[in-house]
This record gives sequence, C-alpha cells and structure tokens, in this order.
Amino acid sequence: MTQPFSNMDNTLFEDKEVLSEDYQPDTILERDDEIRAYRDALKDVLFGRNPSNIFVYGKTGVGKTAVTNYMLQALEAETEKREEADDVHVRIYNCNRGSVYGAVRSLVNKLRGEDEDPFPKTGLSTNIAFETLYEKMDDIGGTFLFVLDEIDHLSDADELLYEFPRARANGHITESKVGVIGISNNYRFRDSLSPKVRDTLMEKEISFSPYDANELRSILDKRAEKAFRDGACSESAIQLCAALAAQDTGGARQALDLLRTGGDLAESEGDSMVTDEHIQDAREKVRRGRVTNKIRDQTIHGQLVLESVARLECEEKTPSRSKEIRNVYETVADHYAYDPLTSLKSIQNHLGTLEMLGFLSKTEYNDGKRGGSYFVYELSVDADAVFEARKQIERERK
Ligand SMILES: Nc1ncnc2c1ncn2[C@@H]1O[C@H](COP(=O)(O)OP(=O)(O)O)[C@@H](O)[C@H]1O
Ligand SMILES: [Mg+2]
Repeated sequence: MTQPFSNMDNTLFEDKEVLSEDYQPDTILERDDEIRAYRDALKDVLFGRNPSNIFVYGKTGVGKTAVTNYMLQALEAETEKREEADDVHVRIYNCNRGSVYGAVRSLVNKLRGEDEDPFPKTGLSTNIAFETLYEKMDDIGGTFLFVLDEIDHLSDADELLYEFPRARANGHITESKVGVIGISNNYRFRDSLSPKVRDTLMEKEISFSPYDANELRSILDKRAEKAFRDGACSESAIQLCAALAAQDTGGARQALDLLRTGGDLAESEGDSMVTDEHIQDAREKVRRGRVTNKIRDQTIHGQLVLESVARLECEEKTPSRSKEIRNVYETVADHYAYDPLTSLKSIQNHLGTLEMLGFLSKTEYNDGKRGGSYFVYELSVDADAVFEARKQIERERK
C-alpha cells in the first residue's frame, strides 16, 4: 500500500464548516414572524428605555439560538448608529448544567477586560458575585442584555431570574439597565418557576414553531450550495433530508445532521454525489446521536431518574412505581456524588417530563381491592443508548 493519505484528493465538500453545529448563518430564512416578534420585544432599547425581559421557547433545532444571535447583532449595530440609543452590551451564557454562581461569575468575566483577573471559581458567595457584576455594569454604563440560553438547565433559575429584573428597583444598579432573554427547549420550564418570577421573565414571550418540509428545504438548499462542490449533492437528497426531519422533529439541526452525515457516507464510499441512499443510511447514525443529545438536554436529576428506570429495565423489574424508582435513583445519585432530591413529588415530576418527552411510558394501575390507583413506568428508548449517553456526559463533567 502507498502512504495512507496519498490517494485522498477527492472530497465532495467545498466548505464543510457550513454544515457544522456552530456555524452562524448570515441570513435567517423562514422565521419572519419570530423576527418580527423579537424586533418588537427589543425595540425599547433603541429609544433608551428599559429593556423588556423575554422568554423564547420552542423545540430543539428550530432556530432559537441562531435567530437570537442574529437579532442581537443587528440591535448592537443599530444602536451604534443612533445618537439617542444607549450603548448596548450583549452577553450570552449557555446554562448547560451550571449553577447561579457559575452564571454570574461568567457574566462578570465576560465584562472584565483581558488585563483583569478572572472572578474566582470558588470561595466567594453568590451575593458577592452579584455585587461584583452590578458594580461592573454601573462602571461601564448603558444597557445590558443577558442571554441565558438553555436556561432550563440552570440548577436554580428562580434565584437568577428574580434578581436581574429587580436590580434597578432595588438600587443595585443606577447607571445601567438590564434585560434578560431566557431561552428554553421546554415550555414547561415556566411551570417550575415561582409565580413572581414567571411574571417578570415572561413579559414578552416568543414561540418558535417546528419547520415544515418546505421551510427546511429552503434552509438546506442555501447551506448545501455553500457546503458542497458543484453537483456533489443531489436535489432529491436535500428534499429527503427536509422531509424526514419535518416528519420527525421539525428541527433544522436534524435536517442538517442528516445532510452532513449523508455527505460523509458518500465520501467514504468513494461516490461522486450524495444520493437518497446515503441519506437513508445516515438515518440510523443520526438517530443514535439524537438520543444522546436529547438526554443531554435534561436536567441532571432528570437524567438520573431516567438512568434509574433503565437499570430497573435491565433487571426486568419494570414497569415500576415511582417509589421503587426513587430507591434506585438514590443509589444512582450517590454513585455519581450528586445530592439526591428528597421529595417523592419531585421524582414524579421528572417522571412526568420524561414521559412527555417520549423517554418513558406510563400506565395507570388500579388496585381493585384497596380501591387505589397509581402509575407504573417503563422505558420507551433503548436502555443501552441511555447508559452510553450517561457515560459520555459524566466523562465530559470531569
Ligand atoms: N431559519 C434558519 N435559517 C438558517 N439556519 C437555521 C435556521 N433555523 C435553524 N438554523 C440552523 O439550524 C441549526 C439549529 O438551530 P439553533 O438555532 O441552534 O436551534 P435551537 O437553538 O432552537 O435548538 C443551526 O445550525 C442553525 O444555524
Ligand atoms: Mg439553542
């Protein structure tokens, strides 16, 4: 054999980056209603008024993050042009499994210059972190927009969301203004907040609906044009990705994943064009990856409850009652060194969410003699997929 790479001069991709997860498109297609709603929600800033707090929700992959980035860049650019507008400082924080302290600390660091020391990871209280942030904001002045993406992952979102909207009224800041934009895949997140917080965060709500096949097709067409060499991707492959994703999640992420994975398969098979067959073959690979991502989207305790049901399933002990699941959950939480939730109600809430998201199925069981009834749960996804995903997530934590 010759050198391993010497024959590798054929690629189907012109710019594969364009299909990657982090690529920020410079044009947003098919989200005119959402863009209009966003513009109305943000426009106060242009006139130097207090910004509204905004709650953005919709399923995964429907453009919440992409549209938010796009809108805030546009807002910053516009305020720079206008005399009467305050300076706008946008800071984006992804709440992935973070704590309130971590979030505030990160915001402080994002406002500090490169020559300043970062705020310490541990050792100070959350209150001091807030105070430091407020001081810095007043130093800089202007309007601050804090984007808390995937806010449902925050361990105590209530605390954070209570603080910011009241910072001015409580006299913590006088020279600056603040607005919070919370983004969540899970509409029920709002139910987990206290009523006071709900009212202030939910001043403006923007809902992102799933895409249909035509919308996905126009998004994919645009990407494929940049991503593939001329003639390297068939129109019908694109159409198939759009149709499959529309039937399933209605998310552009899934459609893009199918297209990228199909492209990889075509390339590794030495074919000159991505066809329907490659996309069909890509489905299974993408599906497995998606279960992992969906699990990653759950709060840590939601994941632990799911893992507990998967364990029971392997021991053929399902369907199980919430009490039985709780017993296993306590061992599992302990094993990973998390403080377990103590009330049965909170375990039942997680079971309810997991059921709604299709991880579990639930059956009502009537105990005829005693006249009571209760629910039993079993796993609706592959137990191995759950274990694999959990292993990966725990590995990333280290
Ligand atoms: N309307 C759109 N136009 C162009 N690209 C989009 C659009 N909606 C989503 N995307 C792309 O699809 C992927 C998922 O979108 P994202 O904003 O991350 O979804 P969400 O935050 O709702 O989960 C990203 O790569 C994004 O660039
Ligand atoms: Mg997002």
